[in-house]
Amino acid sequence: MHTTALLIGNSDGIGLATTRRLLSEGWSAIGVSRSDSPVESASYTHHVSDVTSLQYVRLLDRLAGDQLIDLCIYFAGIGEPIDLADMSAEVRVIEVNLLGLVRTCAGVIPGMVKRSRGHFIGISSLADELLSAEAPSYHASKAGFSSYLRSLALTLKSTGVSVTNVRFGFVDTKMAKGDRKPLMMTVDRAVNHIERCIRHRPTEYVAPQAAIPLVKLRKWTMRFTQK
Ligand SMILES: NC(=O)c1ccc[n+]([C@@H]2O[C@H](COP(=O)([O-])OP(=O)(O)OC[C@H]3O[C@@H](n4cnc5c(N)ncnc54)[C@H](OP(=O)(O)O)[C@@H]3O)[C@@H](O)[C@H]2O)c1
Repeated sequence: MHTTALLIGNSDGIGLATTRRLLSEGWSAIGVSRSDSPVESASYTHHVSDVTSLQYVRLLDRLAGDQLIDLCIYFAGIGEPIDLADMSAEVRVIEVNLLGLVRTCAGVIPGMVKRSRGHFIGISSLADELLSAEAPSYHASKAGFSSYLRSLALTLKSTGVSVTNVRFGFVDTKMAKGDRKPLMMTVDRAVNHIERCIRHRPTEYVAPQAAIPLVKLRKWTMRFTQK
């Protein structure tokens, strides 16, 4: 039985495509992002809110109180190259990518635990295990993101609530940056992977699997560039 999904950061990219897919399959959905959503459906409600704001915390409280949220997916994410003349964007990346995740868990997990039912999915990245001179905040935010969800999955064992940490390689959205984007997936394929996670509820999910050796190689070569 499909019920209600709360999708955070879904005005564009993977979040938008997932929203459309879930609605086409009979889910009801509630979305949150800073911009309006292009989605029009009787089964869909969109809230304009920034995950770093106090208004977002209040919105989550209200949504978690009013609705029975069966599935929550955290997509919200930003990433910019570091600017050494003005590093304020570094703080913002951590606030959106990592603190926004934890804030969202704090808003929805207690209700799920109370009902002994629910699934929280976070969209992390294979960048979580790499260092980067170009975007330290993005890599650090995703390392913290994956670490938090892995630990939370342990905390929630035997509560009836599942947690899935999804680690994607490049996906073809405006977020995918860099001159080289090896093994880049289409958004549609990324949504197929998310659907698999909704069905099977793994604690950890990596896609594409073929990117794993590339990440290992990158880590190995970094050992030399760090010296
Ligand atoms: N694309 C890739 O190659 C790739 C690879 C691995 C992991 N990921 C992860 O996948 C997730 C989705 O990325 P994407 O590729 O779909 O990027 P995207 O197209 O840029 O979408 C990002 C979404 O996050 C929302 N967002 C950003 N800041 C927000 C804020 N402060 N409050 C609320 N919503 C906010 C944006 O909406 P508004 O601007 O309207 O707020 C947008 O809907 C991200 O967490 C990203 O790190 C992406």
